[in-house]
Formats: sequence, structure tokens, C-alpha cells
Amino acid sequence: MINFRPQQSIIGEKVIMNFNIRTHNCGELIEENVGEKVVLNGWVDRRRDLGGLIFIWLRDRYGITQIVFEPDSDQVAYELAKKLRSEFVISVEGKVRKRPDDAVNKDMKTGLIDVLADKLIILNESETPPFAIKDETETFEDLRLKYRYLDLRRPALQKVLLLRHRMYQLVRKYFDENGFVEIETPVLMKSTPEGARDYLVPSRIHKGKFYALPQSPQQYKQLLMVSGFDRYFQIVKCFRDEDLRADRQPEFTQIDVEMSFIDREQVFNVVEGLMKLLFKQLWGIELLLPIQRLAYDEALIKYGSDKPDLRFGMELHKLNEVFTKSEFKVFSDVVNSKGIIAGLVAKECASFSRSQLDGLANFVKNLGAKGLVWFKVTEDGVDSPTAKFLNENEIKNLKTNLKAEPNDLILVLAGENNSTLNQMGSLRLEMAKRLELIKPETPPSLLWVTDFPLFEWDDETKRFYAMHHPFTSPRSEDIGLLEKDPGKIKAQAYDLVLNGNEIAGGSIRIHNSELQSRMFKALGISEEEAQQKFGFLMNAFKYGAPPHGGIAFGFDRMVMLFAGVDSIRDTIAFPKTASAMSLMDECPSEVSEEQIEELHIRLIKD
Ligand code: AMO
Repeated sequence: MINFRPQQSIIGEKVIMNFNIRTHNCGELIEENVGEKVVLNGWVDRRRDLGGLIFIWLRDRYGITQIVFEPDSDQVAYELAKKLRSEFVISVEGKVRKRPDDAVNKDMKTGLIDVLADKLIILNESETPPFAIKDETETFEDLRLKYRYLDLRRPALQKVLLLRHRMYQLVRKYFDENGFVEIETPVLMKSTPEGARDYLVPSRIHKGKFYALPQSPQQYKQLLMVSGFDRYFQIVKCFRDEDLRADRQPEFTQIDVEMSFIDREQVFNVVEGLMKLLFKQLWGIELLLPIQRLAYDEALIKYGSDKPDLRFGMELHKLNEVFTKSEFKVFSDVVNSKGIIAGLVAKECASFSRSQLDGLANFVKNLGAKGLVWFKVTEDGVDSPTAKFLNENEIKNLKTNLKAEPNDLILVLAGENNSTLNQMGSLRLEMAKRLELIKPETPPSLLWVTDFPLFEWDDETKRFYAMHHPFTSPRSEDIGLLEKDPGKIKAQAYDLVLNGNEIAGGSIRIHNSELQSRMFKALGISEEEAQQKFGFLMNAFKYGAPPHGGIAFGFDRMVMLFAGVDSIRDTIAFPKTASAMSLMDECPSEVSEEQIEELHIRLIKD
């Protein structure tokens, strides 16, 4: 406990208030303190008047202490206490007492004592807050975001931010101790959009020119490797103008890492050491190393996701072989058009009602699936509206292929490969949710997903895009395919997945300017465009770039998972809404015409 010196608040020359600085915080007084004279400062959490007694719960970020005002103890303090309202800031002096047995509150650390007040100073009044400051809040998030400074008084949110603080310290210490150098990279940089949209900042001095806010310090960290820094890290803000989801923010924080003269294994070693430390320090869990690995193709076929949640089984199975010659057109058409028929088994779910099954069918339809085929497994066959279209052999093979047993429920989707697998992946997660397969005590699942495709094809623009980013190296055995069959190339890229969330992604980089040019070509980026956008990086590579690679963690997502909260917004002190607004300071906002003019910009008004 830090003991602050007594102090005076001064406005101009005038002393406006004289109060004693706290001797203790509101979360620390216990039975051993009984009899002590103490000073506490804090916010009034609630006030109760009980016939001649006034009880105050006094709150600060350390906890809550009950203060009692009795007229016999101090009449002036008692009279003043009648004026107290929620969120008034006060200073209280008094004596610590043991509570009578029937007044003990076992849920509070300070629940064995209270403080009998003999002095009260109101340091500041408060208007009635727009919502009660308590953890079990039903207040709409928008209102809480507008008054975020009040929302942040809630112990639950304070706990998350304190965990976030601990995580910063652990991460910094870990990288420092492992020889990494923390280097800041620019926030105003060149616009090089690949992936998300850039946030742009107009230049006043250079008419018609713009800076961009970094989507990540990717290029700078690679340049730092060219400079010879060898091991770099940074806890850094990144900005992406993309469509937001629950686990995305327009500005978010990365733990950014880059290393030279390494291969994938060295990156994995460093990351695994960090994860072991965080698991131990934040969760008290001994993480067994090495972390399990799963190739992208296998993750997709087994779990229908490149970020599978392995806290439960329910693997997917490809069933094409069972239905190659099926007379059931829905299945045979898919087999003939080289699509996929995929199934999963929900153990002992044959008792699902018609409306439950309809609910699941609607769920997959909303994801774009044509329909859900289900089979309730019985002793001698299956019970399903689809059964009449299938022959006995197909039903037998379906059951053996899936190792389904009587009383199980089989769910099947058929269609185009990737979309069907993705839908099955979502269905698998939905089933786990409905069956409550993930319990609070279920151990976390952490895994590497490796060997991502280097490119993904976009049907709309009819071109390949880098799945990770254009500086990611292909596997050396695949380089020859760059000009022949780019879609088949696997990248030296990896993601770290915690409980079905991608918490980090990285790769071994291309460090050779000729290979980088071939990569741009495969991406349909002309030499001029590449030179104009990434010329500085390509030039740097001409002057002795070491082999290098790295990774970046989504810091906010990690805090979300370690703190066990549902939204990334709960991990950020002042977050944006899903439509990228800050409701508190009302940004983005309009600016004056002078400002716009100075920036040489003309607005299009509709
Ligand atoms: P990537 O784009 O995969 O890689 O980002 C790394 C991690 O950052 C987190 N993340 C986000 N978190 C919150 N809101 C967002 N909008 C958001 N976008 C990404 C994710 C993700 O795993 N430069 C590369 C890393 C590298 O190759 O070293 C990069 O930025 O958890």
C-alpha cells in the first residue's frame, strides 16, 4: 500500500479543500486492523439509512469498505452523511470495528469489519449517473460507451484492464530477457493497402498527398532485420478500416515480433515460451510443450475451420466414397461435381425433436447451405426422411464410416468444398454450444495451424490474393509452382489458435528481391506498382537482407480470452463501436471548413 502525503487542493491562490490522505485503500482492511484509526478516500457506491444509522459502501479500485455513521459518534459527520448520494467522492476518518457475527459479509474481503466514521469531507459531488455502477448491468452498451469513464468504474471492467496491464508487463519482461529489442515504428507511413483498407491522413504541407496509419508494422520490422537488429518486438497500435466483427476493432494492439537467421522452429520456440509463461501466470496452468500442430488442409477437413476449437471432439468426416454411386441425386450430383459430402456425429442426440432439427436446418441455411440431412441412428438402421432414397449398403457404410452408434444423431451437408466445410465447422461449434460441451473447467485448447495456402483466389476480381501478406515465403519445395500453379503453393505461414480464436499469425519472409518480384507477379501486381508501393522494401533487400521471419499476436484478443470476457471491447479502455465510432467523444466528427481547406481537400456532400 502506498501512503500518500497529506495534501491540499489548490485553485489559483485559494486553498479549496483540506483533507487527509488515505491511510488505506477500500479493499484492504481486515480483522487485524480492528481498533486502528484510518482515513479512506473513494466513491460512494451506495447509501442505506437504517433508523438512526447510515451505512455507506465506499469504493475504489481495490474494493469496497463499509462505513457507518452514528449520531453518537459524530453528529456533524452524521448530518453530512445524509447528503451523500451515489458516486460522491468523499474522505472519511474513523475507527475500524469488528462487525457483529450476523453482519459479517463473507463475499467481501473487508466483510469482517466496518469503519465507524467520526469525520466526513465531501471532496466532490456527482450528478445522478445515467446507470448504476455495478457489475450485473443490463444497461445498453451504447449508453455505457457514451459514459465510458463511469463504465470503467465497474469492478469487472477494472479487473480486465488490470489483467491487460499484467500481460503488458509479462510480455515486455519476457522479450527483454530473451534478447529482443523494443523499437517504435512510425504511425504515419506510406499507404500500401493489401488486405484491409488503410486509414488515411491528409498532408497539409504536401498538397494532395496522404499518410496512412499502419495496418501493422510489417515492412518496418523487416527493414529492422536488414539493419541488423536481429530480434525485435513492439507492443504496437495497428489500424484497419475493415468491416468489424465481435473480435475486431479498427484500432487494436499487436505484440509484434521479428527475428533474423531463424527458421519456423525458432519462432515457435519463442512463442511457446511466452505462452507457457502467460498460462502459468494468468491461469495457473502448466502448459505442456511443444504445442500441438495441425496442417491447414487437415484442420479444414477435420474441423471445417482454419482456427479449430479442440476443446471437444466431434470431428467431421468426408463421406463421398459412401455415396459415389448413390441414386439420391442430392448426393451423387455433389460427388460428380467434385464437391464434398461431410458428416458429423452428435453422440446420443437421437432424441432431438423436430423443432430442434428444424432449428439446426435454419442455422445452416442462414450460412448458405442448401439443406441439412439428418439421420437418427437406431439398432437396425436409421430414422430419417432421407433414408428412403438410400440403399441398405449406403446406410450401413454411413454408420460404420462415422462410427455412429444407436441413439446417435448424424448431421450431413453436401455442396461445394470450402463453403460446405466452413458450414460444417460452424455447425460443429453450434452443436457444442447447444450441448454445452465446453464447460468452465474444460482445459484450454492451444494449437499451431501450419502450411497455409500462399494464395487465395478471388472469383470477383479474378486474381490471387496473398492469404497472409505478400512478403510471406512459399515453402522452398513449392517455389517452382509460382508461375505454373500458384493455387497449389503452401506458405511458410502459421497461426496460433486459442480456444478457436486466431490469437497470432506470422510467417518466414521472402528475403530475396528476385523471389519477391516473382511473388508480386503471381499476385498480378505490376513491376511499376510494386516499385511504387514497396520499392523501399525491395531496394533494402538488395543490400544484404538476412533470412528472417516473425509473428504478431492480437493483444486485445488475448486479453479477452485470458480474462474470459466475450467482447474485445471489454478489453480496451476506450473502444469503438461496431460501426467504428467513439460514442464518448463523438468521433469521427465534422471539422471546420478552414481545417479542410488547409488540407487541400474538397468534401462531396450528398
Ligand atoms: P495478422 O493480420 O494475422 O498479421 O494480425 C495478427 C493478429 O492480430 C489480430 N488482429 C486483430 N485484432 C483485433 N482487431 C482487428 N481488426 C485485428 N486484425 C488482426 C489477430 C491476428 O492474429 N504483420 C502480420 C504479422 C506477421 O506476419 O508477423 C499481421 O499483422 O489476432
